[in-house]
Amino acid sequence: MSLRLPDTGAETLPDGRRVPPSAQRNAAPILQVLQSHNLRGPLLEIASGSGLHAGLMAAALPDVTWQPTDVEPANLTSIMAWTKDVPNVLPPRVLDACAPDWHRDFAPQNAVLLVNLLHLIPEVAAATLLSEIAACLAPEGTAFLYGPFLRDGIATSAGDAAFDVSLRAQNPAIGYKDLAWVIACLAQSGLTAEIRPMPANNLMLIAKSNSHS
Ligand SMILES: C[S@@+](CC[C@H](N)C(=O)[O-])C[C@H]1O[C@@H](n2cnc3c(N)ncnc32)[C@H](O)[C@@H]1O
Repeated sequence: MSLRLPDTGAETLPDGRRVPPSAQRNAAPILQVLQSHNLRGPLLEIASGSGLHAGLMAAALPDVTWQPTDVEPANLTSIMAWTKDVPNVLPPRVLDACAPDWHRDFAPQNAVLLVNLLHLIPEVAAATLLSEIAACLAPEGTAFLYGPFLRDGIATSAGDAAFDVSLRAQNPAIGYKDLAWVIACLAQSGLTAEIRPMPANNLMLIAKSNSHS
């Protein structure tokens, strides 16, 4: 992805671990949510990026088998560096999560984690991504979707509004998704979402199948 993002200047440690400031900032609050759900078994992380979350969170969730993935093969080096000593992390895989039908290679997952991708992709791609996540979940599985969202079409802070504008200037098809639109996409795939406020105006959507929520 050749977008200019606030984290573009992330530090790389001598062992190959990239340290994006935003991933570092949001790791603890996201982990807190995951830890409150008694997770065990397979967890698919989409868009793992640097792998910082996979390394830190999987170590704190030993009953989970964590599968990191990303669309960019180049990211696998940093993901491996973050996770090489964490026994419950599987080797990272390349996954374009906006492509149709990938769920067949990964289902059934007890949990799917997606952090900070929905605002960086077009709406059509996001709709495919959300329906593939739903199809990938085990019947009692849970999807955790973290990021910034518009509420009734409006950004929740001046910083969010500026970031959204900067994304749309780079590619008019991308930008923050409206919360109601995401909830509707999930509902179309049979998922009901609980909305959890997170630091810095972000949200965590915790989505489960209607028959198990
Ligand atoms: C802002 S970064 C977030 C990375 C990580 N989740 C985090 O919070 O630090 C967005 C990530 O999405 C990945 N990505 C972009 N398009 C994707 C796609 N279609 N499928 C999977 N990953 C994608 C990028 O390669 C990048 O690693």
